[in-house]
Amino acid sequence: MKALRILNLGAGGFIGSHLTQRLLAEGHVVTAVDLYSEKLSDCLEHPRLTFLGQDIRAQEWNLEELVEGSDMVIDLIAYANPGLYIRMPLEVFRLNFQENLKIAEACVRHDKRLIQFSTCEVYGRTAASLPHAALTDPEDPVHATFSEDGSEFILGPVNKHRWIYSSAKQLLERVVHAYGLEAGFRYTIIRPFNFLGPKIDFLPSDNQDGIPRVFSFFMDALLTGAPLQLVNGGRQRRCYSHIEDAVECIYRIVENRGGVCDREIFNIGSPFNEVSIRQMAEMMSEIYAQYFAEPGIPLPEIVEVDGNTFYGQGYEDSDRRIPDITKARTLLGWEPQWGVRELLEATMKYHVEEFRRKHGKAVGRVAR
Ligand code: UGA
Repeated sequence: MKALRILNLGAGGFIGSHLTQRLLAEGHVVTAVDLYSEKLSDCLEHPRLTFLGQDIRAQEWNLEELVEGSDMVIDLIAYANPGLYIRMPLEVFRLNFQENLKIAEACVRHDKRLIQFSTCEVYGRTAASLPHAALTDPEDPVHATFSEDGSEFILGPVNKHRWIYSSAKQLLERVVHAYGLEAGFRYTIIRPFNFLGPKIDFLPSDNQDGIPRVFSFFMDALLTGAPLQLVNGGRQRRCYSHIEDAVECIYRIVENRGGVCDREIFNIGSPFNEVSIRQMAEMMSEIYAQYFAEPGIPLPEIVEVDGNTFYGQGYEDSDRRIPDITKARTLLGWEPQWGVRELLEATMKYHVEEFRRKHGKAVGRVAR
């Protein structure tokens, strides 16, 4: 593939930073835009990387010029942590829909290919979670397996404002799709299903104000001795993917051999890595005890907490979501490699080492 000039918006986040490393390793010229550059610290000096510390919500910034000067745009900018959907729903709508739409429309104007990150949250809840579903086998994974072009979207009522994020992303997808129909816009939409790996989010003990995703809450609890809290009993299930597998798939979408990704939506996830959140808490505790715990110090307990207490009123949850990845398999020849236990071990190892480095403690016995 010839080297491209890639405008990577949101490059300083978890997915963006790993993707930027890969794009540079493949020989591309990257303009990375983000509020923060900490996760890019390994490559900030790279000769083919330009980092712009920019809030894309600012009135005046050179979006048009940057889009015009690139061969492809990747848009990862989002508020994607559920705690924020409850705390500041309007800002979640503004950033995830209004500001992202401006980027998509600049790509339409300048006829540039866009890779738009969306979310598996667009699918919402499963049919099996509906009170009157009357399914013969509600546990059958078929009811929780979502495909890009066939599945229904099932969201809760407006007063469950968690769904504003899902709705904003859904509307953005629909508008981008419509530009494809009416203006021949070349886009690809990606729906990530719970990626994990080094640099995911942040630990709550490091950033008292932020609300990360579940891995970071559990990791923090294990490191600081606080209880691991299971929201609504931890019955909800997720499929976790290692960021390395995810970036491999995303890069194949960047390559877009034969134009197979044009005007397509891709789920990226690992259907065989399903765990309940309770199982994840137990597995992380076991791994911590095996590799990282300091001798003689007991592991923190696992407790239950109500969703409205943990997040605030208006919380509702995706009960279960399994990606159908037939499209990525057939069009891109992609297959995820990491199992759930090994990806938790590797991600925990990174975060334990980081924590102990920052806080000046020796690193315990470590996996892989
Ligand atoms: C989030 C975003 O909403 C998605 O857009 C994104 O695609 C996804 O993360 C992702 O990482 O790919 P979600 O899986 O609900 O979705 O995010 P988490 O905050 O990690 O929550 C997972 C589950 O753990 C939820 O059921 C939540 O209630 C539960 N949880 C969270 C706990 O039981 N304890 C905690 O301390 C935190």
